Amino acid sequence: MYTLDELKSIVKGCRRCPLYRTRTNTVFGEGSPNAKIMFIGEGPGYYEDRMGRPFVGKAGQLLDKMIEAIELKRNQVYIANIVKCRPPNNRDPYEEESNICIEYLRWQVKIIDPDIIVCLGAVSARNIIDKDFRITRDRGIWHMRGKFNIIATYHPAALLRDESKKREAWEDFKSIRNKYIELQNGFNMKG
Ligand code: URA
Repeated sequence: MYTLDELKSIVKGCRRCPLYRTRTNTVFGEGSPNAKIMFIGEGPGYYEDRMGRPFVGKAGQLLDKMIEAIELKRNQVYIANIVKCRPPNNRDPYEEESNICIEYLRWQVKIIDPDIIVCLGAVSARNIIDKDFRITRDRGIWHMRGKFNIIATYHPAALLRDESKKREAWEDFKSIRNKYIELQNGFNMKG
């Protein structure tokens, strides 16, 4: 078992796929190591690559607002991505890239051990929930995988492009809030 710091330094030196050639910084993820909720995006964009931090651009600012709207703070949750290096021109990560990089995410999940995993967008949901996941059809539905409660909602960048999706996203976030409270109150059957 690694610590988060050990894993972070392994990721920093990673050259397991070609994305290392075009990155400025790796974007490991950040937040509380004791977080009950993990938000998983797709991969770093321009600002994330520059700063080495997840969700710091426009989409990140919206994500922060949504986290605050369910009465949590960004530093109480953990935010990470499927791939830790920016795909050139913000293209979707290739399957080979995600398949290699998701191993780091698995370790992060193992170390942080959250109750809830929120997939932000289709790329994240396809890698975590189901390879045939369709965000408009399948968002907002809870899945149990082992001990993890997993849900997918729209990527905040999609909400910036199409405001009409915000209503459904807000439903999903209320559902996340309810699940969080339910689990905090010990109504779950995990013992
Ligand atoms: N979009 C993502 O999927 N992840 C980030 O970290 C930033 C934008």
